[in-house]
Amino acid sequence: MPRWTTVPPTVLLCLAVVCWTLASVSAHKEANAQNTQSWFKNRYTRGSLAATLAQRHQPEQSPNALPVPALAAPRDLLEGRRLFDRETFGGNGRTCLTCHGAQTGTVSPQDARLRFKINPDDPLFVHDGSDDDDGDGFGDGVHVTRMLTDATILMRIELDPKVTLKNDPTARFVTVRRGIPTTLNTPALDEVLMLDGRQPSLQSQALGAITDHAQATRSVQARELELIARFQQNAPRFFTSPGLDFFAHGGPAPRLPLGRTASEKRGRTFFEDVPPDFSVTPPNFKVGACASCHSGPLLNQTNQFLPLPLPPGTRFQSVLVSELNEGGNTPIDFVFHGQNVPGGIIELSSPDPGRALITGRADDSDPTSPASTFDNLNAFKISPLRGIRHTAPYFHDNSAKTLEDVVEHYRQFFAIVSDPDGPGPQPPLIQLTDQDKKDIVAFMKLLD
Ligand code: HEC
Ligand code: HEC
Repeated sequence: MPRWTTVPPTVLLCLAVVCWTLASVSAHKEANAQNTQSWFKNRYTRGSLAATLAQRHQPEQSPNALPVPALAAPRDLLEGRRLFDRETFGGNGRTCLTCHGAQTGTVSPQDARLRFKINPDDPLFVHDGSDDDDGDGFGDGVHVTRMLTDATILMRIELDPKVTLKNDPTARFVTVRRGIPTTLNTPALDEVLMLDGRQPSLQSQALGAITDHAQATRSVQARELELIARFQQNAPRFFTSPGLDFFAHGGPAPRLPLGRTASEKRGRTFFEDVPPDFSVTPPNFKVGACASCHSGPLLNQTNQFLPLPLPPGTRFQSVLVSELNEGGNTPIDFVFHGQNVPGGIIELSSPDPGRALITGRADDSDPTSPASTFDNLNAFKISPLRGIRHTAPYFHDNSAKTLEDVVEHYRQFFAIVSDPDGPGPQPPLIQLTDQDKKDIVAFMKLLD
């Protein structure tokens, strides 16, 4: 069991394992969860929390704030489709379709195994889709175990100037293993691109993919990038429902499904934009628990009830996926310089620090600081959840193979972050039961 620590003063669901991460994941694997005495201090009361949340008002509901994508002429759509599905740019044989399948927008381990059976020379398995036995971060081009079991890609991420690798201080890149996020809904309905938000536009994203994944040998025209973007934003196959397609092109925002069965209706309560219910004893902290991060039309942004000093609409958070490392990826030792801590240096170990590699900030997750925001270190884009039943596996490292795995992860997450005294006598405020987990999964399967 990992260790975790103090609930910060201003927050309830504070992501309290961070001390443990800062102090190095690997060094503390054997830590005894019972040996916790002085690490925990309960600095808030339920009353003060109720008062804080009561001050948070419902913001004006804004309609789709994204620019409506330009409609593409049929000729352009056809050319965009050819570029996405078939153009290799003189590279290693890959196209966008190699990794972003037409049905699910991604590749699951089952897909990979089937494809390997049919054709072991499928370009999915070359380069960053092959194993990295030699540790050079590029893949050996021969072995495919990782792809067949986890369907992750070796991503080379450029380090922010404030970040170095402890064991290779001059390196400017690090390789991490990431699942392929679906291209369903995202191109037209999500301005934040990549799991760490590092690409500013669909065009720059496509250029990066053509250069890095497809190893292009010919130059890429701006017009081609434009056509790929338009195709992804306009072709019906990139939407999980006609309603979302309509929404992307100026129609009304989709609502939360009501649920038909009692289980689906109970599952829905976790996704409603409501504060904890203090009218009952003990207060019910489960209502709205998922919505605090999965809000808005795509269920991919925070609302006003996330008990962290962040405005509604925030797009990055840590839900302890890198911290708990259920994907079993090798932790990497990082040094963050110029941080807002005494001495300015934070050393940490993580299989993938996510957003922190891009912002150069690891100092947002010190549980003792009132400025704790948990949106840099080990933080990833809050995933949109529309059509989620089609796009397993889940999380940035594909560590959750099913929605049942996802809710089991969240049972652990809430048991950690909503526990006022850590593994002390007080129980966590949010303890997901087996019934809760079933209800949440039943509801998520309705999301289109
Ligand atoms: C080798 C597999 C592979 C190929 C080929 C590939 N991608 Fe991706 N794509 C990925 C991975 C992995 C990510 C996420 C990487 C990250 O966040 O670091 C991604 C991310 C994306 C995203 C952002 C998704 C999101 O949720 O933010 C878009 C859009 C996208 N790819 C489009 C394309 C296009 C267009 C092409 C062809 C030009 C392409 N991809 C080729 C694997 C691939
Ligand atoms: C503190 C913010 C936060 C809360 C609370 C939260 N999530 Fe998430 N959710 C995220 C982030 C961030 C990710 C991406 C994490 C990663 O990949 O490391 C995510 C990912 C997911 C995914 C995987 C999506 C994919 O495509 O891989 C599912 C499903 C999900 N959340 C469901 C839920 C449910 C159900 C709840 C409530 C039980 C919940 N979330 C509560 C922030 C949150």
